[in-house]
Amino acid sequence: MKVVVGSEEKISALIAEDFINVIKNKPNAVLGLATGTSPLKVYADLIEANREGRVSFKDVTTFNLDEYVGLEGTHPQSYRYFMNDNLFNHIDIDKKRTNVLLGVGDYESFMKKYDGMIEDAGGIDIQILGIGSDGHIAFNEPGTPFDSLTHETPLTQQTIVDNSRLFNDISEVPTRAVTMGLKSIMNARKIVLIATGKNKAKAVYGLIKGEITEDMPCSILQRHPDVTVYCDEDAYSLVK
Ligand code: F6R
Repeated sequence: MKVVVGSEEKISALIAEDFINVIKNKPNAVLGLATGTSPLKVYADLIEANREGRVSFKDVTTFNLDEYVGLEGTHPQSYRYFMNDNLFNHIDIDKKRTNVLLGVGDYESFMKKYDGMIEDAGGIDIQILGIGSDGHIAFNEPGTPFDSLTHETPLTQQTIVDNSRLFNDISEVPTRAVTMGLKSIMNARKIVLIATGKNKAKAVYGLIKGEITEDMPCSILQRHPDVTVYCDEDAYSLVK
Protein backbone atom coordinates (compact mmCIF):
# COMPACT_ATOMS: atom_id res chain seq x y z
CA MET A 1 0.00 0.00 0.00
CA LYS A 2 1.39 3.38 -1.03
CA VAL A 3 0.48 6.49 0.96
CA VAL A 4 0.64 10.08 -0.33
CA VAL A 5 -0.05 12.99 2.03
CA GLY A 6 -0.81 16.46 0.70
CA SER A 7 -3.38 19.21 0.35
CA GLU A 8 -6.78 18.33 -1.06
CA GLU A 9 -5.90 20.22 -4.26
CA LYS A 10 -2.64 18.33 -4.67
CA ILE A 11 -3.94 14.83 -3.99
CA SER A 12 -7.00 15.42 -6.20
CA ALA A 13 -4.74 16.50 -9.06
CA LEU A 14 -2.56 13.41 -8.58
CA ILE A 15 -5.58 11.09 -8.66
CA ALA A 16 -6.89 12.80 -11.81
CA GLU A 17 -3.46 12.12 -13.38
CA ASP A 18 -3.71 8.44 -12.33
CA PHE A 19 -7.02 8.21 -14.21
CA ILE A 20 -5.64 10.07 -17.24
CA ASN A 21 -2.64 7.73 -17.40
CA VAL A 22 -4.85 4.63 -17.26
CA ILE A 23 -7.03 5.99 -20.10
CA LYS A 24 -3.96 7.01 -22.15
CA ASN A 25 -2.66 3.44 -21.95
CA LYS A 26 -6.10 1.96 -22.59
CA PRO A 27 -8.62 4.33 -24.24
CA ASN A 28 -11.47 1.85 -23.61
CA ALA A 29 -10.58 1.48 -19.92
CA VAL A 30 -13.18 0.51 -17.33
CA LEU A 31 -13.38 3.08 -14.54
CA GLY A 32 -14.79 2.45 -11.06
CA LEU A 33 -16.31 5.65 -9.70
CA ALA A 34 -17.50 6.94 -6.33
CA THR A 35 -19.82 9.70 -5.18
CA GLY A 36 -19.71 11.80 -2.02
CA THR A 37 -17.74 14.95 -1.32
CA SER A 38 -14.27 13.38 -1.47
CA PRO A 39 -13.91 12.89 -5.27
CA LEU A 40 -15.45 16.24 -6.29
CA LYS A 41 -12.14 18.00 -7.02
CA VAL A 42 -10.87 14.94 -8.90
CA TYR A 43 -13.93 15.08 -11.16
CA ALA A 44 -13.48 18.85 -11.65
CA ASP A 45 -9.86 18.21 -12.71
CA LEU A 46 -10.95 15.47 -15.13
CA ILE A 47 -13.57 17.79 -16.66
CA GLU A 48 -10.86 20.44 -17.18
CA ALA A 49 -8.45 17.89 -18.68
CA ASN A 50 -11.19 16.76 -21.07
CA ARG A 51 -11.92 20.38 -22.10
CA GLU A 52 -8.25 20.95 -22.73
CA GLY A 53 -8.09 17.81 -24.88
CA ARG A 54 -5.68 16.03 -22.51
CA VAL A 55 -8.00 13.04 -22.14
CA SER A 56 -11.03 11.60 -23.92
CA PHE A 57 -13.71 9.47 -22.28
CA LYS A 58 -15.45 8.55 -25.51
CA ASP A 59 -14.51 4.86 -25.34
CA VAL A 60 -14.48 4.30 -21.57
CA THR A 61 -17.04 2.36 -19.54
CA THR A 62 -17.82 3.28 -15.94
CA PHE A 63 -19.32 1.47 -12.97
CA ASN A 64 -20.34 3.30 -9.81
CA LEU A 65 -20.02 1.81 -6.37
CA ASP A 66 -23.45 2.31 -4.92
CA GLU A 67 -26.92 3.87 -4.88
CA TYR A 68 -29.55 4.68 -2.25
CA VAL A 69 -32.56 2.37 -2.22
CA GLY A 70 -35.74 4.36 -2.83
CA LEU A 71 -34.32 7.25 -4.86
CA GLU A 72 -35.04 7.62 -8.59
CA GLY A 73 -32.08 8.61 -10.75
CA THR A 74 -33.73 12.02 -11.19
CA HIS A 75 -33.68 12.72 -7.42
CA PRO A 76 -30.99 15.34 -6.70
CA GLN A 77 -29.51 13.20 -3.90
CA SER A 78 -29.39 10.02 -5.97
CA TYR A 79 -25.96 8.90 -7.04
CA ARG A 80 -27.00 8.72 -10.71
CA TYR A 81 -27.97 12.40 -10.52
CA PHE A 82 -24.70 13.20 -8.71
CA MET A 83 -22.60 11.53 -11.41
CA ASN A 84 -24.44 13.22 -14.28
CA ASP A 85 -24.22 16.58 -12.54
CA ASN A 86 -20.60 16.40 -11.36
CA LEU A 87 -18.95 14.50 -14.22
CA PHE A 88 -20.86 12.82 -17.04
CA ASN A 89 -22.74 15.92 -18.29
CA HIS A 90 -19.44 17.77 -18.72
CA ILE A 91 -17.23 15.24 -20.54
CA ASP A 92 -17.31 13.44 -23.91
CA ILE A 93 -18.53 10.16 -22.39
CA ASP A 94 -21.20 7.94 -23.96
CA LYS A 95 -23.85 7.91 -21.18
CA LYS A 96 -24.96 4.46 -22.34
CA ARG A 97 -21.65 3.13 -21.05
CA THR A 98 -22.06 4.68 -17.58
CA ASN A 99 -23.44 2.18 -15.09
CA VAL A 100 -24.93 3.16 -11.75
CA LEU A 101 -26.85 0.69 -9.59
CA LEU A 102 -30.61 1.23 -9.57
CA GLY A 103 -32.37 2.27 -6.36
CA VAL A 104 -35.95 1.76 -7.54
CA GLY A 105 -37.94 -0.59 -9.77
CA ASP A 106 -36.40 -3.99 -10.28
CA TYR A 107 -33.20 -2.87 -8.58
CA GLU A 108 -32.64 -6.30 -7.04
CA SER A 109 -32.23 -8.17 -10.31
CA PHE A 110 -29.97 -5.38 -11.66
CA MET A 111 -27.86 -5.65 -8.49
CA LYS A 112 -27.50 -9.40 -8.98
CA LYS A 113 -26.22 -8.88 -12.55
CA TYR A 114 -23.77 -6.11 -11.66
CA ASP A 115 -20.61 -8.12 -10.90
CA GLY A 116 -21.17 -10.13 -14.09
CA MET A 117 -21.55 -6.90 -16.07
CA ILE A 118 -18.23 -5.65 -14.67
CA GLU A 119 -16.57 -8.93 -15.57
CA ASP A 120 -18.06 -8.89 -19.10
CA ALA A 121 -16.69 -5.36 -19.57
CA GLY A 122 -13.20 -6.71 -18.78
CA GLY A 123 -12.98 -5.79 -15.08
CA ILE A 124 -12.26 -2.44 -13.46
CA ASP A 125 -8.89 -0.93 -14.44
CA ILE A 126 -8.90 1.84 -11.84
CA GLN A 127 -11.27 2.31 -8.90
CA ILE A 128 -11.58 5.49 -6.87
CA LEU A 129 -12.84 5.17 -3.29
CA GLY A 130 -13.78 7.55 -0.51
CA ILE A 131 -14.00 6.26 3.06
CA GLY A 132 -16.65 6.59 5.74
CA SER A 133 -15.82 7.77 9.25
CA ASP A 134 -16.72 4.22 10.40
CA GLY A 135 -14.30 2.67 7.90
CA HIS A 136 -16.86 1.78 5.23
CA ILE A 137 -15.86 1.67 1.58
CA ALA A 138 -18.73 1.96 -0.88
CA PHE A 139 -21.59 1.10 1.52
CA ASN A 140 -19.85 -1.91 3.03
CA GLU A 141 -20.52 -1.12 6.65
CA PRO A 142 -18.62 -2.72 9.58
CA GLY A 143 -19.36 -6.45 9.73
CA THR A 144 -19.76 -6.90 5.96
CA PRO A 145 -18.13 -10.19 4.87
CA PHE A 146 -14.86 -9.77 2.99
CA ASP A 147 -16.16 -12.12 0.28
CA SER A 148 -19.29 -10.02 -0.45
CA LEU A 149 -20.36 -9.19 -3.98
CA THR A 150 -22.91 -6.51 -4.94
CA HIS A 151 -25.75 -6.56 -2.39
CA GLU A 152 -28.38 -4.56 -0.53
CA THR A 153 -27.53 -3.28 2.93
CA PRO A 154 -28.97 -1.18 5.74
CA LEU A 155 -26.93 1.96 6.48
CA THR A 156 -25.53 2.46 9.98
CA GLN A 157 -26.79 5.34 12.11
CA GLN A 158 -23.30 6.89 11.81
CA THR A 159 -23.52 6.92 7.99
CA ILE A 160 -27.06 8.30 8.07
CA VAL A 161 -25.89 11.13 10.36
CA ASP A 162 -22.77 11.78 8.23
CA ASN A 163 -24.81 11.92 5.00
CA SER A 164 -27.66 14.00 6.43
CA ARG A 165 -25.62 17.14 5.69
CA LEU A 166 -26.65 16.75 2.04
CA PHE A 167 -30.40 16.42 2.77
CA ASN A 168 -32.90 18.99 4.10
CA ASP A 169 -33.60 16.80 7.11
CA ILE A 170 -32.12 13.61 8.56
CA SER A 171 -35.53 11.92 8.16
CA GLU A 172 -35.08 12.19 4.37
CA VAL A 173 -31.84 10.16 4.32
CA PRO A 174 -32.53 6.69 2.90
CA THR A 175 -31.82 3.90 5.38
CA ARG A 176 -30.81 1.28 2.80
CA ALA A 177 -28.46 1.13 -0.16
CA VAL A 178 -27.25 -1.20 -2.88
CA THR A 179 -23.51 -1.47 -3.06
CA MET A 180 -20.66 -3.29 -4.70
CA GLY A 181 -19.23 -5.74 -2.17
CA LEU A 182 -15.74 -5.89 -0.72
CA LYS A 183 -14.81 -8.71 -3.08
CA SER A 184 -16.16 -6.70 -6.05
CA ILE A 185 -13.88 -3.81 -5.03
CA MET A 186 -10.86 -6.07 -4.44
CA ASN A 187 -11.27 -7.37 -8.02
CA ALA A 188 -10.25 -3.94 -9.40
CA ARG A 189 -6.73 -3.91 -10.85
CA LYS A 190 -5.77 -0.59 -9.30
CA ILE A 191 -7.35 1.29 -6.39
CA VAL A 192 -6.93 4.92 -5.33
CA LEU A 193 -8.56 6.09 -2.09
CA ILE A 194 -9.03 9.71 -1.08
CA ALA A 195 -9.57 10.85 2.52
CA THR A 196 -9.59 14.37 3.89
CA GLY A 197 -10.50 15.87 7.25
CA LYS A 198 -10.14 14.95 10.92
CA ASN A 199 -13.37 12.90 10.96
CA LYS A 200 -11.65 10.35 8.68
CA ALA A 201 -8.52 9.99 10.86
CA LYS A 202 -9.67 6.90 12.77
CA ALA A 203 -10.76 5.12 9.60
CA VAL A 204 -7.47 6.02 7.87
CA TYR A 205 -5.55 4.57 10.81
CA GLY A 206 -7.57 1.34 10.48
CA LEU A 207 -6.96 1.35 6.73
CA ILE A 208 -3.18 1.72 6.93
CA LYS A 209 -2.10 0.36 10.30
CA GLY A 210 -5.05 -1.44 11.88
CA GLU A 211 -5.78 -5.13 12.16
CA ILE A 212 -7.36 -6.64 9.06
CA THR A 213 -10.89 -7.26 10.29
CA GLU A 214 -14.45 -7.16 8.97
CA ASP A 215 -15.17 -4.66 11.78
CA MET A 216 -13.08 -2.14 9.78
CA PRO A 217 -14.09 -2.90 6.17
CA CYS A 218 -11.40 -0.67 4.59
CA SER A 219 -8.67 -2.77 6.25
CA ILE A 220 -9.13 -5.44 3.55
CA LEU A 221 -7.33 -3.07 1.15
CA GLN A 222 -4.05 -3.97 2.91
CA ARG A 223 -4.32 -7.26 0.99
CA HIS A 224 -4.64 -5.61 -2.44
CA PRO A 225 -1.45 -5.47 -4.55
CA ASP A 226 -2.00 -1.97 -6.02
CA VAL A 227 -3.58 0.56 -3.65
CA THR A 228 -2.57 4.18 -3.19
CA VAL A 229 -4.07 6.08 -0.26
CA TYR A 230 -4.16 9.83 -0.83
CA CYS A 231 -4.93 11.85 2.28
CA ASP A 232 -4.49 15.28 3.79
CA GLU A 233 -2.61 15.95 7.06
CA ASP A 234 -5.83 15.85 9.12
CA ALA A 235 -6.93 12.46 7.83
CA TYR A 236 -3.35 11.14 8.30
CA SER A 237 -2.96 12.60 11.81
CA LEU A 238 -3.38 9.35 13.81
CA VAL A 239 -1.03 7.30 11.60
CA LYS A 240 2.10 9.32 12.37
C1 F6R B 1 -19.87 6.89 -2.21
C2 F6R B 1 -19.32 5.90 -1.31
C3 F6R B 1 -19.07 6.18 0.14
C4 F6R B 1 -18.30 7.48 0.35
C5 F6R B 1 -18.05 7.71 1.84
C6 F6R B 1 -17.37 9.03 2.10
O1 F6R B 1 -20.04 6.36 -3.49
O2 F6R B 1 -19.09 4.80 -1.74
O3 F6R B 1 -18.33 5.12 0.69
O4 F6R B 1 -17.09 7.42 -0.34
O5 F6R B 1 -19.26 7.66 2.54
O6 F6R B 1 -18.21 10.07 1.72
P1 F6R B 1 -17.68 11.57 1.60
O7 F6R B 1 -16.71 11.60 0.49
O8 F6R B 1 -18.91 12.39 1.28
O9 F6R B 1 -17.07 11.92 2.92
